[in-house]
Amino acid sequence: MDRITRRDMLAGATGAAVAGIAAPLAAAPSPESLDAIARTRGMRFGSAVNWSAPGADAGSFANPAYARLVEAECGLIVAENEMKWQRLRPTPTAFAFERFDAILGWAERHALAVRGHNLLWHQPKWFPQWLNDYDFGARPRVEAERLLTTHIQTVLGRYGTRIGSYDVVNEAVRPADGVLYDTALSRATGGPEPTLDLAFHTARTAAPHAQLVYNDYMSWEPGNAAHRAGVLRLLEGFRRRGTPVDALGIQSHLVTQGPDIGATVGRQQGEWRHFLDAVTQMGYALLVTELDVRDNGLPADIAMRDQGVADYTRAYLDLTLSYRSLRDVLCWGLCDRYSWIEGFEPRRDGARRRPTLYDDRFRPKPMRAAVAAAFAGASMR
Ligand code: XIL
Repeated sequence: MDRITRRDMLAGATGAAVAGIAAPLAAAPSPESLDAIARTRGMRFGSAVNWSAPGADAGSFANPAYARLVEAECGLIVAENEMKWQRLRPTPTAFAFERFDAILGWAERHALAVRGHNLLWHQPKWFPQWLNDYDFGARPRVEAERLLTTHIQTVLGRYGTRIGSYDVVNEAVRPADGVLYDTALSRATGGPEPTLDLAFHTARTAAPHAQLVYNDYMSWEPGNAAHRAGVLRLLEGFRRRGTPVDALGIQSHLVTQGPDIGATVGRQQGEWRHFLDAVTQMGYALLVTELDVRDNGLPADIAMRDQGVADYTRAYLDLTLSYRSLRDVLCWGLCDRYSWIEGFEPRRDGARRRPTLYDDRFRPKPMRAAVAAAFAGASMR
């Protein structure tokens, strides 16, 4: 693993090339960190972080190179996987808190705030197998409600005010038609709406201090219209029923559409504004929770690709950050080396994906400068 320094990390933001090895990173965030720039506008910057064995080559707090990067740039973090049912709930009666506890402990030692992701990823695909196969017995509704409320009360009771914001429900809307997913829980409870409502009510009671978020990946690219419409219907329903939901988490797994970024943005911005207007007019705050970019339709050439990704990110953030209820921007990982995108959707030409702010060798990319510029250009909140 290459040794990285704060000067190396910040070189991309200023355009100054830093050769050789400078002093090691200090623990305190640099005044020029993305979080520091965000804070001048009343905002925060953060990233997802993973768990691993100490020293593993992973996007983990236990990998010193990655931890230094996160500590240098971020004011808050989110566990990429360790709060999900698949990790936290090995069996119907057990909780496995050790890995999430380790991430939280590290974050607190470095004065990083922590978001909770997530309390209910409402798709069978993301349930633990035991939950998909669960026998709810003679009174299925009572048992399903007990399972769900016990889960949320246990997690929130354990972490108390150490976590200030939760993705209570994640991805409940089918992108193809905007209809809500059914799961073993919703079938037992009497439908998806009562299940999601129960999750939010339980969270509000168990953690009255916390921001409660509905989080999803409806985006501004073509093909997302049904997904956006479904999310709007869900958010309208929450308001109608008095479900306590404070904010919409916009995952922001962006996808470039070709080399002409200006034309792409021109085509997409109207509908995106329309969507964000509708969400905010219902009184929801916004967050960007999982920003990264799939560099589709861009040439393999690295300089051209990175510039396209940066320009696309800048245009997206300029528009999205113009909504002043939006205070937090989190990336889904900070370093290409560990991004989930390569495994999720590799490039057709076989070139390695470059979805994040730092390259495989921890060098800042134009996307890092684009995020910094978007924060610097954002209005005060
Ligand atoms: C992804 C993780 O990055 C992967 O490591 C894991 O295998 C699957 O989940 N939307 C979400 C995140 O809400 O939880 C997902 O994270 C990415 C898409």
